[in-house]
Amino acid sequence: MSLHGKTVVLGVTGGIAAYKAAEIASRLVKRGADVQAVMTENAARFVGPATFRALTGYPVVTDMFEEPTVREIAHISLAQQSDLILIAPATANIIGKIACGIADDMLSTTVMAATCPVLLAPAMNTEMWNNPIVQSNLDKLSGLGYFFVEPTSGRLACGTEGVGKLADPEEIVAAAEAVLAGRGAKSLSPIQDLEGVKILVTAGPTREPIDPVRYISNRSSGKMGYALAQAAAERGAEVTLVSGPTALPAPPQVAFVPVETAREMYEAVLARYDAQDAVIAAAAVADFTPESTSAQKIKKANASPILRLKETQDILKALGERKKHHILIGFAAETDRLIENARQKLAAKRLDMIVANDVTQPGAGFEVDTNIVTLVREKETLPLPRLPKTEAAHRILDSLAEMVRMKATEPGLRANRPLGPPL
Ligand code: CTP
Repeated sequence: MSLHGKTVVLGVTGGIAAYKAAEIASRLVKRGADVQAVMTENAARFVGPATFRALTGYPVVTDMFEEPTVREIAHISLAQQSDLILIAPATANIIGKIACGIADDMLSTTVMAATCPVLLAPAMNTEMWNNPIVQSNLDKLSGLGYFFVEPTSGRLACGTEGVGKLADPEEIVAAAEAVLAGRGAKSLSPIQDLEGVKILVTAGPTREPIDPVRYISNRSSGKMGYALAQAAAERGAEVTLVSGPTALPAPPQVAFVPVETAREMYEAVLARYDAQDAVIAAAAVADFTPESTSAQKIKKANASPILRLKETQDILKALGERKKHHILIGFAAETDRLIENARQKLAAKRLDMIVANDVTQPGAGFEVDTNIVTLVREKETLPLPRLPKTEAAHRILDSLAEMVRMKATEPGLRANRPLGPPL
């Protein structure tokens, strides 16, 4: 696509990847864009403004209080004249500032005054990227319509390996073109790597009635399952969410099946099983239910009634026993011997992956917005740091997408029906 007639503000912030912004500027100019570089003070320590001046043909803007020179560069007019603001690299600092509405230099002020789309290409070290504050800032901006080019994994300047490397300049320029053409994806995971994959997610607690007003339940909020359903839908999957009672709204673009008891969940899931490519069982299904439910409210007069319980059916186990082409992912909420217990469940329920969750750790498990999980597969154990549940959901789906790709290359399956997007 030609970028002739398009004005792009290229914001450069202070990370080691700032030098790569020169290549981005050059590629944008070659495609015909009118590029105005805006550098933060810290960015100018990593790479000289003269580089951008030479590449773009315009003086670089750093200081808010400088007199406008060649073009009218007051932040308001800059914001209004541009078709796109692209910030590459975007540090945790600029992401935090934008998310919190701080406008204390030329770049952040321009972003705040902008009416055009804003595309960010984050780059930072892995710990910073995984920091729940950074992740929640990203979620917030994503929800507000900011566009992103996700960082990649690789060797980072700090000497470690992990996520946080600035995406390839060509990929960033392609994303800029997509946004300018109105095709940009707003989410942090613009890749539609689960397109057309049918995924059923179970979520929330179940309620096992004792009488018309009382029930046995558990502390599950449903947050993890809902985050998975929403993230899978954002990545193009056809999602069915079978949920016990929660306080959460059903995510958009998801077929929602509300249930109450373990029995109802079992029936709802089994009835839809054949049509699915994958099931993610995030629900905290009651393991026991009252042997009988009283039709009338049990009165105090029946002093100290004894409640007899019977086991419920294990939904995931039943799915394992009937498994054909399916990919099955379960959860293991444990309080001790995390990996050992999870591996046992992986085998016993014939799962492809189990998400092991030590519910005794702060910031993990029930009722909180973050989770600390380990992804356990037959030959792999991948511990993840404490992450917002939305980000943990995407990591789980990264593994699912990989399994989908592997299945798609199995000759037998390919002949029947393509699973997921073509490779
Ligand atoms: N599960 C299910 N149906 C049940 C119980 C559990 O589908 N009746 C699923 C959960 O959704 C979860 C996985 O099984 O994905 C693990 O559940 P968990 O309760 O942790 O393990 P159990 O197999 O019940 O074993 P234990 O209670 O001994 O830990």
